[in-house]
Amino acid sequence: SPPAIIAPSILSADFAKLGKECSDTVNNGCDWLHVDIMDGHFVPNMTFGAPVVTKIRPHVERPAAAYGKGTFDCHMMIAEPKRWVKDFQKAGCDLYCFHYEAALTSTAADSPAGTSSETTSPKELIRFIHAQGMLAGIAIKPKTPVDMLWDILDNPEKQELPDMVLVMTVEPGFGGQSFMAEQMPKVTALRERYPDLHIEVDGGLSEKTIDQAADAGANVIVAGSAVFGAKDPAEVISRLREAVET
Ligand code: DX5
Ligand code: ZN
Repeated sequence: SPPAIIAPSILSADFAKLGKECSDTVNNGCDWLHVDIMDGHFVPNMTFGAPVVTKIRPHVERPAAAYGKGTFDCHMMIAEPKRWVKDFQKAGCDLYCFHYEAALTSTAADSPAGTSSETTSPKELIRFIHAQGMLAGIAIKPKTPVDMLWDILDNPEKQELPDMVLVMTVEPGFGGQSFMAEQMPKVTALRERYPDLHIEVDGGLSEKTIDQAADAGANVIVAGSAVFGAKDPAEVISRLREAVET
């Protein structure tokens, strides 16, 4: 399977000094930064949008190559994911990960807010994200069966293939929730079918739960409270990496 990628979620960072929190975390040895975007509509919480991403981008060096260190992994917990693709590309997002559950209600990308409601298939949305030069991810909530993704992942059209699948291991919306081990069969099934796919897990990951995720085959590990709540975040990052690599 692909290499271990540790992606601390800045949802648990101090938002009053977000730029420094981001650069410190990269200096602490992480690979990506996981940027949680919430609209108060798809999930019952709000964070921030593209203007904030624009302001934090210069604090972290842009990755030298796709999937490289400093990748901004934007987890879009928003309705109408197609509408914000171009804004996030301009802001410095490298990987735009939308929710499967939200994709079907996308509006046209260039329409002013709320004026049009064109539906987009996940495949079309992935093609659109790739056309803007970003990697594309597709996320599923705990209640969404993984089988919904087979048709999307078996597509011979390369431009429409996701670069990553995110299996949520908590209900999206808040940091600090408990890891849902019952989601692991989804990861196992994905890894069996797609040995080279980037599989991300998000929610409740820590040194206590990492082995379950790693054994199932996850290689991209999001951790918010476990990293930002730690006395020694660098140590936690290296322990998470070790657990995935061994
Ligand atoms: C939850 C977010 C997560 C969150 C994880 O909706 O998608 O990225 O920050 O936080 P922890 O690691 O604390 O569960
Ligand atoms: Zn997330």
